[in-house]
Amino acid sequence: MRDPYDILTDLRAGRRLAAEDLAAVADGAAGGGWSDARLGAFLMGAAIHGLDAAQTRALTLAMLDSGDRWELRREFPGLVDKHSTGGVGDKVSIVLAPLLAESGVPIVMLTGRGLGHTGGTADKLESIPGLRQELDRDSAARVLARTGMALGLATAGIAPADRRLYALRDQTATVDSLPLIVASILSKKLASGAAGIVFDVKSGDGAFLPDRSAARELARQLVEVCGELDTRATALVTDMSQPLGEWVGHAAELAESFACLRGEGPRDTVEVTLALAIEAAALVGVDLAAEALRQTLASGRAMDRLRRWAIEQGASATWFERPDLTLAPLERVIPARRSGVLARVATRRLGLLLGEAGGARRVAGEELDRGIALRCRARLGDTVGAGQELARVYLRRDDPGLVERFAACFEVADTGCAPPLIASRVPA
Ligand code: URA
Repeated sequence: MRDPYDILTDLRAGRRLAAEDLAAVADGAAGGGWSDARLGAFLMGAAIHGLDAAQTRALTLAMLDSGDRWELRREFPGLVDKHSTGGVGDKVSIVLAPLLAESGVPIVMLTGRGLGHTGGTADKLESIPGLRQELDRDSAARVLARTGMALGLATAGIAPADRRLYALRDQTATVDSLPLIVASILSKKLASGAAGIVFDVKSGDGAFLPDRSAARELARQLVEVCGELDTRATALVTDMSQPLGEWVGHAAELAESFACLRGEGPRDTVEVTLALAIEAAALVGVDLAAEALRQTLASGRAMDRLRRWAIEQGASATWFERPDLTLAPLERVIPARRSGVLARVATRRLGLLLGEAGGARRVAGEELDRGIALRCRARLGDTVGAGQELARVYLRRDDPGLVERFAACFEVADTGCAPPLIASRVPA
């Protein structure tokens, strides 16, 4: 293995790094052999010069190999996974997993906690009492065999190189480097060993990458690197210029997920979920039709599948008889200040304000308030009258200043329209 100093010298000069060099970086990150200073220099060099496709693939593989690889496709050959780059009100995973499982497509998803202005699936599912979300390979395989789905938080053994590099990216202004994002996402996603992965790359104000062409390029690179690492993948670039669904907030989103699973969900959430389900199934040779999926939802079978899975992972069966998903008690209405068309929603800001109201952690491990919520009553492009309710917030404490800042997130103008829900598709 080459000396880190020589590797960094080549990177600084813009010379390509060999796969062995990138393996040295990942080893050094996971094992502690590289100092923070050296890793920071690597990140900055990679962010400035970029990494080509071969280097991105090599870094991804090295980071993946820094930890456990579950290879679950050995026991579950048609296993799929789904990844979302995250958004406000994005509850798709909670609906998609039981829908696919009920349609005969096994699915594993190692989900995360909230990040920045976006809520994490694991935090939303935590409203279910007793649910155990820490999964290791054995428990994931067991619950998959029994219920066709496994959802949970990855163990510390997965991609330790990413844990260190990710934390350093935050400190070194290298968070938005595409090759570093690709390697980071895939080093964790490929660890469970699904045969196919569908990516939901969000674009628009509430997305991690708001720009649609940047989102599409990320989608393209994710699909390409997966293919080179023996995993079939497709991606949809979907709209996040307004929250997905009517509800945002942990308990509220779980309740809305249950509504989707009973066939009573909002159109946008259901449409994105069905499109991703069809893509995921196609990756493993299963042809699913939207109409059949709608029937599975309306029949209540998908909801029943979620309940069976949750109980298998420790959830209280009696809780499901009457789920307690109480919202914070102070309701404040946000009215339209004028008549016109809802033209813009500051979606990222809405996510941050919900966090400020108590709905997100300021530091890891802190308790969050699951009852804080926002209900969007108007969608982009809707015609609204002056004084009409645009949204409603559910708070724990009265705070007129905060409500005013929520209100400033909704802009009514003379014209406006909603972008397409599914902007583009990157095929396998
Ligand atoms: N999610 C990740 O896991 N890594 C990134 O770099 C960005 C989003």
